[in-house]
Amino acid sequence: MSEEIGLFYGSTTGMTEDVAFQIEKIAQEEHGVTLTPINIIDLDDPNDMFLYTHIILGMPTWNYGEYQDDWEMVVDQIAGTDLNGKTIAMFGLGDAVGYPEYFLDAMGMLAEQLEAQGATFVGEWPADDYKFSASKAIKKNGKLIGLGVDEDSEPEKTTERLQAWLTYVLPLLGAK
Ligand SMILES: Cc1cc2nc3c(=O)[nH]c(=O)nc-3n(C[C@H](O)[C@H](O)[C@H](O)COP(=O)(O)O)c2cc1C
Repeated sequence: MSEEIGLFYGSTTGMTEDVAFQIEKIAQEEHGVTLTPINIIDLDDPNDMFLYTHIILGMPTWNYGEYQDDWEMVVDQIAGTDLNGKTIAMFGLGDAVGYPEYFLDAMGMLAEQLEAQGATFVGEWPADDYKFSASKAIKKNGKLIGLGVDEDSEPEKTTERLQAWLTYVLPLLGAK
């Protein structure tokens, strides 16, 4: 038995939540991996996310490069936590047509903070399938730090993106 992977998300209008549940379904049906999506507002202490060693985090970007409201609060509450030994994969929701200069910024901002706290990131993803002009989620190597999902402008690509990303990332999160 491999160790359980934590799956946490924040969502204002429900799109990140929908994607978290799609991830649960694909992981179960295609990989036999059980994930339980948890909304970060349901955590008494957001640091409980780090009771897991392997973690998937999902977040949208709001208001021209800002954190989603619930993540905004959580980011402060987890700021002092030592994340050495934690492996994190991220998926971010954004709108590349509506907000091309801030595409998926929150994913990049959160990754930068958690990396400074000691976390290791897996699940980087090629950026060339997305049309945007700037993003804080882009790493020095030109890839996105995690999976980008665009339910506003490219919803038809979501399932395929999730399937491909999960096939790549689940083994890196210790799933067998
Ligand atoms: C007012 C507003 C501001 C937004 N700002 C951004 C942004 O800066 N960057 C981005 O990539 N997407 C932005 N988006 C798109 C959202 O991230 C996208 O709709 C996402 O799917 C919402 O997720 P949620 O329903 O889980 O909250 C914005 C959407 C709205 C309505």
